[in-house]
Amino acid sequence: MKFTRIKGIRGEITVPGDKSISHRAVMFGSLAQGITTVENFLRGADCLSTIDCFRRLGISIEETPEQITIHGKGLDGLSVPSEILDAGNSGTTTRLISGILSGQTFETTLTGDASIQKRPMGRIIEPLTQMGASITSLGGNGCAPLCIEGRPLHGIHYTTKVASAQVKSAILLAGLYADSPTSVTEPALSRNHSELMLSLFGASIKTEGTTATIEPRPRLSGQKILVPGDISSAAYFIAAACITPDSELLIRHVGVNPTRDGILRVCRMMNADVTLLPYKEESGEPSADLLVRSSSLKGCVIEGELIPTLIDELPIIAVMACFAEGTTVIRDAAELKVKESNRIDAMAENLAAMGANVTATDDGLIIEGGRPLRGAAIDSHLDHRIAMSFAIAALNADGETRIQGAECVNISYPAFYQDLNRISSKT
Ligand code: S3P
Repeated sequence: MKFTRIKGIRGEITVPGDKSISHRAVMFGSLAQGITTVENFLRGADCLSTIDCFRRLGISIEETPEQITIHGKGLDGLSVPSEILDAGNSGTTTRLISGILSGQTFETTLTGDASIQKRPMGRIIEPLTQMGASITSLGGNGCAPLCIEGRPLHGIHYTTKVASAQVKSAILLAGLYADSPTSVTEPALSRNHSELMLSLFGASIKTEGTTATIEPRPRLSGQKILVPGDISSAAYFIAAACITPDSELLIRHVGVNPTRDGILRVCRMMNADVTLLPYKEESGEPSADLLVRSSSLKGCVIEGELIPTLIDELPIIAVMACFAEGTTVIRDAAELKVKESNRIDAMAENLAAMGANVTATDDGLIIEGGRPLRGAAIDSHLDHRIAMSFAIAALNADGETRIQGAECVNISYPAFYQDLNRISSKT
């Protein structure tokens, strides 16, 4: 796909539903008694993989353009799947469902695409095994395919090495099936959508500092969920409006949960012109409209506890840094190496190809802003967030940019290029 410079980003946009929240709505709706409806569900490939897995586990899920309807069967309502479960490209599906499958009375095999088969699963195998499950990495390399033999589980207190909502959620979900409370302590607070939504469904779950504790065997009941827009998808348009001259964009109904809003804090640090219009709360999640205008950005340091609140936004933040005055340092983000691609390498290699002054480090990137970018051949590494980040960079570069594997945006934002084109002004 080819991109050239534009003259402005203008108008209004509503981004698709939040990916993390959409996954959880399907999973918790399946484990609840009765009907759960989900409005503004993200119809991206990742969330469709979650629907497919739960259908294979015997749950009936109907899809209409307005909403999805899940006919939940309760905590013990899943049945032996007739086929291997396929999580596609989705780490959230793989890790969260592993927690649920650990508490079943049957054995399941779970796999995914080439990227999933390289991502580390030891981080969930270890705690789930401590709880009593038997999980085998069939390739013997700590990755999927996984054979998960459900067993009676025991509550544990687990301290994670990395701040990961996928790991935390896998343990808490196994905790639903345990014989005593289960708690997870993280080095920094990761996104808390599981805690908020499980509580909405009727689970007893509390958070103190960076420790979440769940009581076993709750009776979950079906809910009506309205999914807010995904701040991770909005981030591309926030960046586009900031770095493109003559821009003014209103982004409607964006989820601004404080465990996800690191991009907004970075915008403030970078002097970006972003205004949060009054917000509301639905299904336990806050959301707001965002007004974004062209900005004179300056470099900043992004590190520590901020990292888990913007982990998926670091590729597009790296693009913003190229248009900022001064140096931007991203550190404490070694997790970027084990996402859908190695995002430290993918960003460094592609930004350098566009002429940016960028250095990859062990746990992040250092970017000297202010060098004009030029069009280049970009390798997306079939990673949706890399493809979207470079589509935005390309609109502010001289010459033509070609993105290889651009269609991988279907993972989280199938209509991304159409939406971007609609708000891009060529005159
Ligand atoms: C997610 C958690 C994050 C994030 C991923 C979605 C979730 O991963 O990068 O895109 O929905 O829980 P980690 O938990 O591995 O940090």
